[in-house]
Amino acid sequence: MSGKEKNDAKKGEKKHRGKRILLRTFGCQMNDRDSELVMGLLIQDGYESVERPEDADIVLFVTCSVRQKAEDKVWSEIGRVVKSHENSAGSGRKPIIGLLGCMAEEWKKEAFRKSSLIDLVVGPNDIHQIPRLLKKLEAGDERTMAVGSSRRQSAVYNTEYIAGKSHCNVIITEGCDNFCTYCIVPYVRGRERSRKEQDILAEIRELVDKGVSEITLLGQNVNSYRCGSNGFISLLKKVNDVKGVEKFDFVTSHPKDASEELFKAMSALDKCRKFLHLPVQSGSNRILKRMNRGYVREHYLELAEAARRNIPDLRMTTDVMVGFPGETDRDFEDTLNLMRTVRFQGAYIFKYSPRPGTQAAQMEDDVPMAVKRQRNQVLLELQKSLHAQQKEQRD
Ligand code: 5AD
Ligand code: SF4
Repeated sequence: MSGKEKNDAKKGEKKHRGKRILLRTFGCQMNDRDSELVMGLLIQDGYESVERPEDADIVLFVTCSVRQKAEDKVWSEIGRVVKSHENSAGSGRKPIIGLLGCMAEEWKKEAFRKSSLIDLVVGPNDIHQIPRLLKKLEAGDERTMAVGSSRRQSAVYNTEYIAGKSHCNVIITEGCDNFCTYCIVPYVRGRERSRKEQDILAEIRELVDKGVSEITLLGQNVNSYRCGSNGFISLLKKVNDVKGVEKFDFVTSHPKDASEELFKAMSALDKCRKFLHLPVQSGSNRILKRMNRGYVREHYLELAEAARRNIPDLRMTTDVMVGFPGETDRDFEDTLNLMRTVRFQGAYIFKYSPRPGTQAAQMEDDVPMAVKRQRNQVLLELQKSLHAQQKEQRD
C-alpha cells in the first residue's frame, strides 16, 4: 500500500466511525419499503448498514401505530436494544436512537417524554431530513425532530438501495382518505395522494436494471389510484408491459373501490399474480356501518364471487377484526358465516384496540378482552379448518 493509499484508508475509517446504522422495521410492507428508502439515503451519505445492535452507532426504528400491540413492541424493543448495547463488551456510549414512521407522527415530541432513550423523531413524510438531522445529533445536539409534512419529496421514493434480490415493493399511493373509524392511518400518513404514473414506471424500469423481476405495488387503497384521467387498471396494464418485469401484484384493495373490471384485468394480464388481498373487517352490516367501511356484506359477497368467477386460480386473503365496539355474538356469527361462504386462502385476524384520535376511540370499548380473545380463537380455528378442507378438496 502506498503512503497515499494508507492515508485514504485512514480517512475512510474515520469517515465511518460513528456511522454504523441498524434499521429495525415493524408493521406493513409500506414500512419495509420506507426502511429501504431511508437506508438508501444514508448509504449515499457514507453510512454503513450493520446487523447487530452492539455494532451500531445509530439504531433507527421504523414503526407502526395501527394497533396498540404493535406500539408496545416498539417501546420494549427500544429498551432491549439499548440494554444489549450497554452489556456488550467494549461498547462505549449509547447509540443514537431514532423513532421513525407512524409512531413518530403520532407521538411527535411526546415521544421524548415517553422514552428518554430517544434522540430523533421523524414522521413518514419527512424522511428526506434524516441525514441532516443525524448530522445535528453527531455535532452534539441533544434531541431533534421532523414531523408534520403533508407529502414526501418525490426524489425520496427511489434511493437506489434494495434489500432483496429479485423482488421489490413500489409505492403508488400514500395516505388514506377513508377514515374507517378504528384506523389511525389517515392521521399519521396523511391524505391520500397518488404518485405520477411516469415516476412509478421509471422507478420500476430502474429496479429491473438492477436485477429485480418481481414487483409489489403498494398503497393503503390501491384501487383509488389516479393520475390525471388514468386509474389503477391503466397503471396495471402499463406495469404488465414493462420489459423485464416477470411478475407483479398489489396490496391493499378496498371493497368499496374494487370492481369486476379489475378482476377481468387481473385475469387478462399475464404477469399479474392471481392474488387479491381484500380486507372485509366484519361480516355484520351493523358493525361495517359503525366502522364507516362504505359497503355492506352483500356487496362484499358479490365482489368475492365475481373475483373467483373471473380469476379461476385466485388466492384471496383478508383482514378481519374482532371485538369492535358494540360487536355482539350475533354480529360475530355474521362474520363467521361470511368466512364460511368466501373461503379465504388466508386471513389476518386482529383484536380491536382503540387508537388515539380516531372516531372509534370515542366509543366505549365494551367487548371484554376475554371475549375478544375467544372470538379471535374461534375465527382462527374456523379459518384453519376451512383451509384444511380446501386443501383436502384440491389434493
Ligand atoms: N385495532 C385492531 N386492528 C386494527 N386494524 C386497523 N386498525 C385497527 C385497530 N384499531 C387492522 C385492520 C387493518 C389491518 C392492517 O389492521 O384489520 O386492515
Ligand atoms: Fe385505515 Fe380504512 Fe384507510 Fe385501510 S382504508 S388505511 S383501514 S382508514
